[in-house]
Amino acid sequence: MSGLDDVIAAETTLSEVDGLNGRLVICGYTLEELAGHKSWEDVLGLLGGDLLPAVTLKSKLGMARLRAFAVVAWIDDGILALSITEGLRALMARLPDGEDAATALLLAAAPAVFVPALVRRKAGKAAIAPNPEFGHAADMLAMLTGTVPSDEAAAALNAYLVTVSDHGLNASTFAARVVASTRAGYTSAVLAALGALKGPLHGGAPGPVLDMLDAVGRPGNAEAWLSAELARGERLMGFGHRIYRVRDPRADALKAALARLGAAGGMDAERLALAEAVEREALKLLKAKKPDRALETNVEFFTALVLEALGFPREAFTGVFAAGRVGGWLAHAHEQVEKGRLIRPQSRYVGSKAA
Ligand code: CMC
Repeated sequence: MSGLDDVIAAETTLSEVDGLNGRLVICGYTLEELAGHKSWEDVLGLLGGDLLPAVTLKSKLGMARLRAFAVVAWIDDGILALSITEGLRALMARLPDGEDAATALLLAAAPAVFVPALVRRKAGKAAIAPNPEFGHAADMLAMLTGTVPSDEAAAALNAYLVTVSDHGLNASTFAARVVASTRAGYTSAVLAALGALKGPLHGGAPGPVLDMLDAVGRPGNAEAWLSAELARGERLMGFGHRIYRVRDPRADALKAALARLGAAGGMDAERLALAEAVEREALKLLKAKKPDRALETNVEFFTALVLEALGFPREAFTGVFAAGRVGGWLAHAHEQVEKGRLIRPQSRYVGSKAA
């Protein structure tokens, strides 16, 4: 059954995923020029164009985080019973819909506020209000931990948010464009995207990556454990990609962020050694299993390690992904509204014929 491989469904100036050469370009810059060098706010300004112009975006986002925090009061037992991704979806659904800049700004700011609030409330702690003076990544960490984060931790989260900010016509971005094309509004588009992101084949993989590391336990177990998983027909989380036929460049960007965090003492050396052994063995086994299809490390493998080192519980990883990718979703939704038409493909009927 078709997965729309190689179908061009939109023209975009936002990002280009070159799967053969392992290159990601966002608004004319390579990922290497952005991750570790630019703030998420800067990249949002690039992606946002006339909807979210870069000028004063940092302070506007800070104020938008404060406005979003008012919605945290809606967290009740019903929302606390949901997973964090579903809780995030429920809170985002409280935001007004529209195609204007104020709506886009609130949507861009909100996941960074809602995810830490949900983590804390689920742990029985009070949510912490944003500090609009902080950068977006630093404030997200401050809202999670209740302390001012180190520069290294804030830089690592910022590098992560930038790394995942946009990635061509991935499943959630396509969902956002489809909904935006109906002119339903950017909140509806972001909600559709969140639904798609939740799946383990898209944004739901990094939590299971840590489950895998826990199950492997120590480097010497990696080969036996991973072979048994593959023999049972399981997929190894954090490996393989629809577009990349070489290593996912985002994995390298995050590995570099992890190394910087490690050098500053923010990463457990044993965990890193285990991850390196699992990656090494997994690549060997996947090559033997599928010699004709390059199954390489994807973004989710190092995402898991970065977000764990920063203190996010694994249940929150998909929500943190959303806090970065929301920039791309909004930019694509806007591009679709400005330049696109209603997206309405055809299906081929293969059912029984009417009499
Ligand atoms: N482990 C084991 N086998 C795999 C894996 C894997 N991680 N990925 C693909 N394969 C095999 C698969 O079993 C299939 O074999 P067969 O032809 O014998 O059935 C073959 O490779 C092709 O798989 P596919 O599902 O047709 O390939 P796809 O392009 O649709 O899959 C993928 C892309 C990401 C869904 C898949 O590689 C996967 O399930 N990976 C694990 C989950 C994961 O890490 N997801 C995060 C993706 S990166 C985040 C993002 O950019 O959204």
